[in-house]
Formats: sequence, C-alpha cells, structure tokens
Amino acid sequence: MESADVRSDIPILEEVIYLDAASTGPTPQPVVDAMCDYFYNYNTNTGRGAYSLAIKTTQKMQEARQKVAGFVNAPPEEIIFTKNTTEAINIVAHGLNWEKGDSILVPNIEHHSNFLPWLRLKEKGVNVKVIKADKNGIINPEQLVESIDDTTRLITITHVSNAFGSLQDIYEIGKIAEENESLYMIDAAQSVGHMETNVKKMKANFIAFPGHKGTLGPVGTGFLYCKYEDAEKLEVSDLGGGTVLDVDENNYQLESIPARFEGGTSNIAGYIGLGASVDYIQNIGLKKVEKHGLKLTKELYQGLSNVENVTCYGDPQNIYGIVSFNINNIHPHDVAKILDEVRKICVRSGHHCAIPSMKHMGVHELGGTVRASIHYYNTSEDIQALVETVEDIAKTFGV
Ligand code: ALA
Repeated sequence: MESADVRSDIPILEEVIYLDAASTGPTPQPVVDAMCDYFYNYNTNTGRGAYSLAIKTTQKMQEARQKVAGFVNAPPEEIIFTKNTTEAINIVAHGLNWEKGDSILVPNIEHHSNFLPWLRLKEKGVNVKVIKADKNGIINPEQLVESIDDTTRLITITHVSNAFGSLQDIYEIGKIAEENESLYMIDAAQSVGHMETNVKKMKANFIAFPGHKGTLGPVGTGFLYCKYEDAEKLEVSDLGGGTVLDVDENNYQLESIPARFEGGTSNIAGYIGLGASVDYIQNIGLKKVEKHGLKLTKELYQGLSNVENVTCYGDPQNIYGIVSFNINNIHPHDVAKILDEVRKICVRSGHHCAIPSMKHMGVHELGGTVRASIHYYNTSEDIQALVETVEDIAKTFGV
C-alpha cells in the first residue's frame, strides 16, 4: 500500500493537514469497519457467555491478542491489554514490590506518564535518580552507567521523545540493564507502528504501548508487553470480574496471566479494532513506513529551520517523526491557532505533558513549543504547507 492508498482510507485528510500523529493517529476505514462489524453483528461480552455470539466475541478477542502479539514478536500471554500507555506504565509502577532504598533511573526528557508514576514512589522510600539528557534531548548510555549502583532496581526510558522526537539508544541501554541485572522498561508510545518493534531484540522486561498512535488503532487502547516471569511477580491493581479462578469468604486464587490484569468488561470493540490496525500497518510494511517517516522528518526539520526567526529543537540526525519548534516572540498556542485558522493545519502546542523536558530544553518559559508530527499518510506537500505558513506567520508577527 502506498501513502495515497492510506490517505483514501482516512477521509478527514481531504479537509485538514494533519500533523499531530504523536497525539493520536487517525483511524483508517478498515479499522472502523472491524469495530462496526462487532457493534452491528456480535456485540456481546467476552469470556463469560456460553451462547454462540459470546463465543464468537471471545474468539475475536483471542485473535486480536494474537495479532498484536505477532506484531511485536511476543507470545500472546505476554500481552496485557490496557486503555493506553499510561495505564501500562502504572501497572508496573504499582505492581512491583518496592523496598525502601531501591533506586530507579529515569531521564528528565520523559512524558509525564513515564515520570510521575516513578516520582510518586519516593513516598515509599524509593530513590528516583533523574538522568539529564544532553542539549539535544539524548541520553548518553555512559552517563547511565555512572549512575548505576547496587540499589538500581529499574531503568526506564522512552524510545522516541513525544516532545522533541529524540531517538534513544534503547538497545545499548538494554545491554547495560542486563549487565547490571536491573529491570528495564521502555515507553514505546512514539515508536510503535513507525518502525520495527521486536520485543525479543529490545530485551526489556516491560514495554508500554499505545494502540491509537503509530498503529492507527482506536483511542482507548494500549498494551503492556511483560515477560511472563516478571508478570507473575506483579501485584494486580484492579481486582474484579475475570481476574480470579476461585474465591471463598476469606481468600481468592488469581486467574492466569494476562487475564488477572484485565479486570471487568474491557474495550472489546477497541481491541478488535487494534487487531485490525496492526494488520493494516503490516500490510503497508514497517520498513516502508519508517523510510517515509525518516524522509519527511528531514524535510520538516530542514524546511522549518531555514525560516528566519524560527528555532527547531533537537539534533536532526537523531530525531524521528516529530519536530518541535518556536517562532521568536510568539506563544506556541498562538502559532498553532493561526496554522489551524489560515490553512487547517493541525499541530500540538504547549508543554506536551512533558514539563521536565521543557525545562531541560529551555522552552518552559516560552510556553513550550509547537510540535509537528508525521505518519505514513503525510506527504511532502503537507510539510511544504506547514513551512510556508510558518514563514508567513514569522514574517507578519515574528521579530
Ligand atoms: N502523549 C500524547 C502527545 O504527546 C498525547 O501528544
């Protein structure tokens, strides 16, 4: 499938220039169709009823889990469905039995979802060591090594920064975690669906994924890859229907993994849609998606950085899919509003739920940045339209 084929599956792209994939990916028609099929033809609960429609739903959910597992090269039982990346990270942060004096290494360039759950563990006496990124938002693995000691229990990092697009060396950091026998967690929110994601190569104990960004699945879906032996050690936060095998008045016996982590009726239509969306991305081919993404990222960075009075952040050689920028003396929200009003260009602006990274990059006081983010459906014409409009804004209002 070519970029134009994907565009024709996303009708809204005829009306707007959508440069906000990092926030959420638009849902292509075949994914919507898979969810409509559920709603129109077998809208029942999963794992509960003995009648044929309910059995069909259970089978469709199993298929969806298999598809998602295959997509990241994991066994299906190591995939826990969640409502988003945030929930996936919180399952781990809440579930590990932390002891006073344990340490966690976390970069200062993270999204709040991979920062706040760890910061809160200070209340339990956990030492949260915040590792400083360089001026381009990159974590030097050597620096991590210097911060490791006997107390280091977990290293966590985001593969691609949601705020600046900086691409971290997750494979090298994985080796460091392995050598030091610490747990390793990756936030893959901005990389999955954009580049090959093979959990075997990533060597992490835990990887948190969204369903609705790069994979173009529906909002309200995500998943946690968790090695079976690690999942067995995690305490379950949400107990309820579907999480136990047996209960008496004094005790209960937990269900197998992953069911014990998926209490209550879940977003069945969403996960069926997620299964359809990973099929969709695989039909395009991840190598093609990544190549297209790299080309457009370069065009975006080069185009914007050539505009007078515009500052782009990060190292163009080491970013993927996201370019953050500012026009001198114009608040990022104003820029975003004008882009929308004059050319229907959709970008995110502000702090991007990543305030420590804004402070680190020196843009917090400016109100953050304007962030353009791309996917396979974007074209060079989209980039050109953004660059031209930014140029006009900078000429008219910038100094
Ligand atoms: N985490 C999403 C973003 O960065 C919502 O925009």
